[in-house]
Amino acid sequence: MAGSKRDVKLSIIGAGNVGAHIAVYAASKDLADIALLDQNADKAKGTGLDITQAMATANIDRLVVGTGDYADTANSDVVVITAGLARKPGMSRDDLLEANAAIVRSVTREAVRHSPNCVLVVVTNPVNTMAQLAYEVSGFPSERVIGVSGVLDSARFKTFIAMELAVAASRVNAMVLGDHGAEMVPLVDHCTVDGIPIRELMPQERIVAIVERVRHGGSEIVNLIKTGSAYYAPGTATVEVLDCILKDRQVTLPCAVYLQGEYGVNGLYVGVPALIGAHGVEKVIQLHLSEAERSALQVSVEHIRQRCDMLKAGAKG
Ligand code: 2OP
Repeated sequence: MAGSKRDVKLSIIGAGNVGAHIAVYAASKDLADIALLDQNADKAKGTGLDITQAMATANIDRLVVGTGDYADTANSDVVVITAGLARKPGMSRDDLLEANAAIVRSVTREAVRHSPNCVLVVVTNPVNTMAQLAYEVSGFPSERVIGVSGVLDSARFKTFIAMELAVAASRVNAMVLGDHGAEMVPLVDHCTVDGIPIRELMPQERIVAIVERVRHGGSEIVNLIKTGSAYYAPGTATVEVLDCILKDRQVTLPCAVYLQGEYGVNGLYVGVPALIGAHGVEKVIQLHLSEAERSALQVSVEHIRQRCDMLKAGAKG
C-alpha cells in the first residue's frame, strides 16, 4: 500500500454497516492499513475510498482498500469476520444460524488460506457459535480465534446504569459474560460505580429492569431501526479488541473464547474475561462468581451448547 505506513495489516471481511464502521474506527485510531473485502467488490471499493478520503480530512495516513479478492487480504495480522445477515425486527440471533454458518465457513477457509498466521476476530451472529465454527474450520489454535460479545454487552450495561444514576458511563465498572443473546449474564454482583456496588445504589427492581434491558439491548435497537441491527457500538467494541491485539495491550476484556475446563466448561466458546494481546487470547481470567452469577452462566452455557449441537445436526442432516 504505497504512501502509507507498513507496520501491521488488518483485513475486514464484509463491508456492511458493521464492517464499514470497524474500518472507520480502526483507521481513525491509526491502528493499521486495512483491506475491506466484500462479495460486492464495488461496494467495498467505494466504501474504502470514502473512508480513506475521510482519513485525509483528519490527517491520518491510513489506507482502506476495498476489494472482492482474498489475495488482497494476504498476510494480515488480524482478520475480522463480519460477513453475514443481520437481524430484522422479530428475529433472534439464533434465526441467523444456518445462513450465517454457511457464510462464515467459506469466509474462514479463504481468509486463513491467505493469512495463515493471523488472529481471527469473529463478529458475525450468533457470535459464540460462529467463533466456534471459525475455530474448527481454521484449524488455528484457540487463542487465535476470538468472538466479540461481552465488550458490546458490557457497554450497554454501563450505559443503562449510567442513565439510571445520572452519572458518566466511564464511572461504571460492569461486565457481561456468557452468550451474546437473551441468556447473557450481566454480572450484577461485580458491578460498581466509583467502586460502590450497584446493589447499594439502586433498588433490586431497577437492577432487574436494567439486566432485562441489557439482555435485549440489540433487539431494542433492531426494533427501532427496523431495517437492520446496531453497528456503531458493535464497531467500537470490535475496535477495542483489535486495539488490544494490534498494540499488544494485554488488557482484560470480556470476549467469546474457547474454554478448556475454565468455569467448568470444556470445548465451547463462551463469553468470559480474557487477557487480550498480540497472540489473541493470552489468558482466560477465572473470576470468582456469586452463586446467582454462576447459575445464570450455566443456563447461558447450556444455550450455547444447544445452538452448537443444532448446527452440527443441521450439517449432518
Ligand atoms: C447487537 O447486539 C449486532 O449482535 C449485535 O447489536
